[in-house]
Amino acid sequence: MCGIVGYIGNELAAPILLDGLSKLEYRGYDSAGLAVRDGDKTIEIVKAKGRLKELKEKTDGGMALKGSCGIGHTRWATHGEPSTENAHPHHSDDNAVVLVHNGIIENYQFLRDKLVKNGYSFYSQTDTEVATKLIDYYYKKYKGGPVEAMARSMMRIRGSYALAIMFKDYPGEIFATRRDSPMIIGVEGDAAYLASDVPAILKYTRSVYYIDNMEIARLGKGTVRFCTVDQEPIEKQPVQITWDAESAERAGFEHFMIKEIHEQPRVVTDTINSLVREGRVDLSEAGISEEMLRSFSQVHIVACGSAYHVGVVTQYVMEDLARIPVRVDIASEFRYRRPLLTPDSLVIIISQSGETADSLAALREAKSQGVQTLAIVNVVGSSIAREADHVIYTYAGPEIAVATTKAYSTQLIVGYLVSIELAHARGQIDDGEYGRLLTELRTIPEKIERVIEDKERIQWFAAKFSNAREAFFIGRGIDYAISLEGSLKMKEISYVHSEAYAAGELKHGTISLIENGTLVIGILTQEALYEKMISNMAECKSRGAYLMGITNYGNYNTEDTADFTVYIPKTDPHFTASLAVIPLQLLGYYLSITKGLDVDKPRNLAKSVTVE
Ligand code: F6R
Repeated sequence: MCGIVGYIGNELAAPILLDGLSKLEYRGYDSAGLAVRDGDKTIEIVKAKGRLKELKEKTDGGMALKGSCGIGHTRWATHGEPSTENAHPHHSDDNAVVLVHNGIIENYQFLRDKLVKNGYSFYSQTDTEVATKLIDYYYKKYKGGPVEAMARSMMRIRGSYALAIMFKDYPGEIFATRRDSPMIIGVEGDAAYLASDVPAILKYTRSVYYIDNMEIARLGKGTVRFCTVDQEPIEKQPVQITWDAESAERAGFEHFMIKEIHEQPRVVTDTINSLVREGRVDLSEAGISEEMLRSFSQVHIVACGSAYHVGVVTQYVMEDLARIPVRVDIASEFRYRRPLLTPDSLVIIISQSGETADSLAALREAKSQGVQTLAIVNVVGSSIAREADHVIYTYAGPEIAVATTKAYSTQLIVGYLVSIELAHARGQIDDGEYGRLLTELRTIPEKIERVIEDKERIQWFAAKFSNAREAFFIGRGIDYAISLEGSLKMKEISYVHSEAYAAGELKHGTISLIENGTLVIGILTQEALYEKMISNMAECKSRGAYLMGITNYGNYNTEDTADFTVYIPKTDPHFTASLAVIPLQLLGYYLSITKGLDVDKPRNLAKSVTVE
């Protein structure tokens, strides 16, 4: 968690750092801070509790801080409550070392005790202050310079980190390193930048270096040099970022979430185009052949949150089409339950950020058992993308709203395409069915567009239920998987407690919660299960529930049971999640804004969950 930035060049650093941090607020937003230096004068540190705007006000938009070299941080608390003391940058007593950190240092208590024995004292509760003082300790003890002090510290620190560091004795430089936390570096003209994520520096450069685990970077004016912990130089080539700056901004929408909902037809098309060529699914860029697909006898899908919900949809689709056993796991469970993986298993990790700690650990667990791993990831160059044996990228572009929408939709598309290819490779579908499914998939973006066009009805419904205290989402099969996502959207951004239930399971206990006026949302896109769903909804209605139904155009008799019905265009039953999820995203969004909540940055959450 947390976002870090760094700048060195000829401009005033603080406004550039604040601008970069504003693009990283999705990574954490409970406090923020800057450290800026004017030539070889003392390093000035300013911190503020609360949103970035507090820091902006405190520094007059950065104009109050002189100097063209600096680092900045936006925090999501892990060790120590959100406060000015715990905010970054942290510093050694004489400011010899000033540092910002993203990640978690697991053995910080042990290191802190050692440092206390060596005469150090601590002003905060953070693990970051421990890292700062550990580097300071080695820097002063061995006098080998910044890189040596960093390398020695890296050998002692357990856990994850991305660090940007200023040393008092090295005024013209910023030092950086990382392990299992993201960091990118850009160089343009006389300036060098670093950040946790691309949008923070996209305005200044499109040429980006990815720094690998345990590598050290040394940034100067318009320069960057890389080396290993053993101080061996490393040659790196920059990667050109093709995202336009506009797509990292709100593009005129009131919130990122609604902008990202509207982007879904385009990003779904982009994702299909990246994998379907001349009527065939082409997984060759991921290094996956038909022969390889035939070698698997079971599939494990592992992910967290909404990405896990994509896994649940994919399980239904893949088992049905490819007739292969598929198991879906929550990553935080998978990693500790000593999973049994046979050598012919394929483990699929799904992650938007590619940095989710539990998903990364699950990937490593699978790799340690020697099975093939496939990552479905949005962020290019992220840890999961780099470590998996095979990677398929989703083409969602930067997703800024904390609640995922477009990344979820693109992950679904990859799930369908891998399922279709697997089914074909295993001889479970013939060429005709293969072609028919791909042709139908091509119609999904335009159908999503039509569902979004109907958004005013959802807005009206959200206004009517803005005081709802609880809701139930029910469905069968793929509709159950969609219910999981609908329920999470409602909980996380509108703070209405909700539960998703397999519709047939409700009567085994939970139905006792249904009373007069309870909101029940039934998803009925699976024609084969339609009648059974209607019966389950009727059971709720007879206990007083207010029923919303989401079903395919044509199922007009749903209105005989449901009080409010939303229709989605007809498609192949395997693909209905892509359409039915849209009204549910819109419902969560409109409920949140009707209640006046911060829809893009819901409380207690962060976009990229890089801690356990
Ligand atoms: C919910 C949401 C989260 C993420 C989860 C996994 O809207 O966004 O549940 O899906 O934290 O994140 P990634 O996909 O980055 O691994």
